[in-house]
Amino acid sequence: TQALKVGIAGLGTVGAALFRAIVSRHKLLADTCGREITVSAVCARDKTRDRGIDLSGVEWFDDPAELARKGDIDVFVELIGGEGDPAHSCVAAALARGIHVVTANKALLARHGVELAEVAEEAGVLLNFEAAVAGGIPVIKALRESLTGNSISRVYGILNGTCNYILTRMQKENMGFDECLAEAQRLGYAEADPTFDIGGFDTAHKLSILTSLAFGTRIASDEVYVEGITNISIEDIHAAEELGYRIKLLGVAQRTSTGIEQRVHPTMVPLGSMIAEVDSVTNAVTIEADILGELMLSGPGAGGDATASAVLGDIADIAKSRPGHQHGPALGRPAKYLEPYTQAQ
Ligand code: HSE
Repeated sequence: TQALKVGIAGLGTVGAALFRAIVSRHKLLADTCGREITVSAVCARDKTRDRGIDLSGVEWFDDPAELARKGDIDVFVELIGGEGDPAHSCVAAALARGIHVVTANKALLARHGVELAEVAEEAGVLLNFEAAVAGGIPVIKALRESLTGNSISRVYGILNGTCNYILTRMQKENMGFDECLAEAQRLGYAEADPTFDIGGFDTAHKLSILTSLAFGTRIASDEVYVEGITNISIEDIHAAEELGYRIKLLGVAQRTSTGIEQRVHPTMVPLGSMIAEVDSVTNAVTIEADILGELMLSGPGAGGDATASAVLGDIADIAKSRPGHQHGPALGRPAKYLEPYTQAQ
């Protein structure tokens, strides 16, 4: 079998970590997947920047659209970010060309996920996005695959590593908000525009993707009630502690008698509960399912290696799939069967 040729668009924290992992795990990946995985092309803004990776023998593109449309690749890995172009048009172009896509871009999926799922289904290729929600935690697989047949009543959790990192350090070390945020940026956790993290919008993007998978509805991130952590002070955190609570930024989606409720806001969780103990960049997602019961997944939610691990798993899935094999739907069910989203009154 020929090697699976991967094109990586975006060589930031995640892209460089992914490149390193594909090179260093070359043999393990080949043994596991039954075929080699190689990076055949990359695209980034600055060719001269030292990323600590050896790009010799790898085709370089300055323009992601060129890579998506013309690259000699089997998989287009989108790590550009942002809900619009160039990420959107590149992903659409790659899918339409019959190239599988792996993306970590929650903002893109929150806005164009259903449309892109339709393009993928029509082209008979995979659109994988494990890394888009909760970093390295396999929550997309849990909802798309493991819990098939369960009826889900609620999904909630800590979905933003940057916010949880800030809240944890403020609580444990009395560090100021701005200092914690700067540290989260330095560690490669924060979005390019950190307002997305601290304003709660990144959590809302991720929640709307989980909602669609859990409840079979069209993605509706505009319908999420959003309140971030910018108004939380060290005094608030200590006052909550005295009352027996910890403050966490939660995303919650639940089925009610009148529709689906989606909300993101700082929440007081009781000290001693599992979710109160989820510290630092760790994320946690709880899913309430009728056959299984309650499932809680937790693990690294942001950062280069954690996110790269999820992207790599998605690429390996593609390597293991066989040509001509009928791939399942890109979202939890075929896009045309997704119900319109109805907001709880
Ligand atoms: N900025 C995001 C976070 C990255 O802090 O969780 C992972 O999606």
